[in-house]
Amino acid sequence: MSHPIILIGFMASGKSHVARLISKHFDIPVIDLDARIEAACGTSIATVFAAHGEKYFREIETATLHQVLQEAAQKPSVIATGGGIVTNAPNRELLHRAAKDGATIIYLRATPETLASRIRQEPGKRPLIDGDKMLNMEETQERVKVLLEGRRAFYESCATIIIDTNHHDATNVAKEIVEHIPSPYRGEG
Ligand code: S3P
Repeated sequence: MSHPIILIGFMASGKSHVARLISKHFDIPVIDLDARIEAACGTSIATVFAAHGEKYFREIETATLHQVLQEAAQKPSVIATGGGIVTNAPNRELLHRAAKDGATIIYLRATPETLASRIRQEPGKRPLIDGDKMLNMEETQERVKVLLEGRRAFYESCATIIIDTNHHDATNVAKEIVEHIPSPYRGEG
């Protein structure tokens, strides 16, 4: 049985980028949950939200997480999740179980200010933040704060490691994670 590396954290916390760097370091596949969902739906996450709503997206997200964790138990991999993965109790249960089975679950933590400024670099990509209208920095921060407040405890309770990303770029964050990863991954890259 293999033990996946799973990245969790708010939108724009760097999960996908850091996952690619870890994947390169250990020479293991990266599984990006949102990319899987987009491939399965044949369209972007923003379009899935607009056409079918959040509830529909969350159902697909849970089914995809379940499937991806089964795959990851068979061969080493690094998984980048979507920022809302912890909002559903069944997903948290899946993550808790994965951690018990040996997965390393890393919460990439950042302040609302940092997250808002990163989110604003990719306008229109996050339906829960700026899906309804263009926002200024203050409005973006406000929405991030509200959502993050409701999720913070869930990220923390699902994580086996918490890493602060405010003052670090993705390369440094990936380096720090690699130092935390237990064997058999260590030394494979
Ligand atoms: C979401 C985060 C997004 C994507 C969807 C919902 C969320 O992923 O799954 O827009 O609820 O936080 P990223 O964290 O990659 O932006």
